Amino acid sequence: MPDKNPQPSAIWGGRFAQAADPRFFAYGRSVQWDARLAPQDVRGSIAHAQALRDAGVLGEREFSELTAGLEGIAQRLAAGEALPVVAQDEDIHGAIERILGPAGEFLHAGRSRNDQVALDFHLFCKEAAQELVASAKELQAVILRQAEQAGDTLVPGMTHLQEAQPVLLAHHLLAYFWMFERDRRRLLWAAAQADCSPLGAGALAGAGLPLDTQATAARLGLGKVYENSIDAVSDRDFAVDLGHAASLCALHLSRLGEEIVLWSSRQFGWIQLPDAFASGSSMMPQKKNPDAAELLRGRAGRVVGRLAGLMLVLKGLPLAYVRDLQEDKEALFEIVDTLRDGLSVAAGLIEEARFTPPGVPKGDLTLATELADHLVRQGVPFRQAHRLVGQAVRAALAAGGSFLDVAPGDWNEISPLFSPQALEELLDPLRAAARRAVPGGTAPNRVREQIAQAHAAIAS
Ligand code: ARG
Repeated sequence: MPDKNPQPSAIWGGRFAQAADPRFFAYGRSVQWDARLAPQDVRGSIAHAQALRDAGVLGEREFSELTAGLEGIAQRLAAGEALPVVAQDEDIHGAIERILGPAGEFLHAGRSRNDQVALDFHLFCKEAAQELVASAKELQAVILRQAEQAGDTLVPGMTHLQEAQPVLLAHHLLAYFWMFERDRRRLLWAAAQADCSPLGAGALAGAGLPLDTQATAARLGLGKVYENSIDAVSDRDFAVDLGHAASLCALHLSRLGEEIVLWSSRQFGWIQLPDAFASGSSMMPQKKNPDAAELLRGRAGRVVGRLAGLMLVLKGLPLAYVRDLQEDKEALFEIVDTLRDGLSVAAGLIEEARFTPPGVPKGDLTLATELADHLVRQGVPFRQAHRLVGQAVRAALAAGGSFLDVAPGDWNEISPLFSPQALEELLDPLRAAARRAVPGGTAPNRVREQIAQAHAAIAS
């Protein structure tokens, strides 16, 4: 009979005749990052202790000692104290058991770290998704305010990054509002995917004690329990769902970041960056650089990369729990942190930015489609109208670059339908925008309608 346990600190050490090699111990240790799950772990353990008491496994005395210990840890965490982790702690679950001392010896009945860590991660993902929903909403509110303040200000809308048609600045900004609205819906959906308790699955086969898992789930604010204990401990789909929702949102931030970079250039001049969200140059004293926007663009790579990494960890894993699954947490933590910070920087930047677009001048070439549409309204086939206006564009480019530079005689030659009265109306960019009046169009009335819809969207 071996008389001594060489791994006295490991919660699974009994059957081991050799201490862990320090290289392996360091390689497998996760408490450096999974300590972040301490609040969830403690809540899960309190709920599990209640289930054990209700099942008659824990007496009242053990139960109150255990919960007193757990609540003490919860209070210290809530007060901002770090968990007193020691070098021998392998992960957060072992660390908390050690801190609990003798009372903690009762806690792990009917539970494995496999369902325990899955539970912690569900709780984390649900809460993180809800927080990201709130951050996305703050950004939406800021975008909406700027759109309202923009009034009927026009900008040249672009395709291929070439000036295309006049649109309201508000309309352009609101396009981002709706992207983030979809993100918010996806994040809410991701929160719902995490709203399920794996507790009671045990290591994989289901706990052998009569635990009321539904009641435990309800105590933890989780809506349901898994139908299958093997799935319960192996599933990380909810984390991928959150990573995916976050990735799309990060991509939207990167597109917004790219546009802010462009808008803040002197060539565009659409936006004056707040000093608080810009950087200078160490050499060129005149510089004011859009570094914040560039980082919004650049950091999307981290989020998508971490999601790809997480998905690759899951690829080909056998059922049920395998240690590979430990790789899930750092990936998701970085996704959540990167997106949360990005949403808040974007909101601060947009809130304090001043929009100063130069507008769209009368007779601008971006009105070419208006001219073609005018001919169409008079019965000219569109393809023919396109060709005729193409001639007008060439005449304008030759004469000085604006439709106002084209001589009346030339207009008449291109088409008598381009009478001076018609042109007066057609070459006014705001009136051109007003004719784009289908639902979702850039007509000021439609944009006002959109602003009302946007308010309704974030009110829910
Ligand atoms: N630290 C582990 C993780 O994060 C906890 C579960 C370990 N379970 C096991 N059987 N090795 O996944």
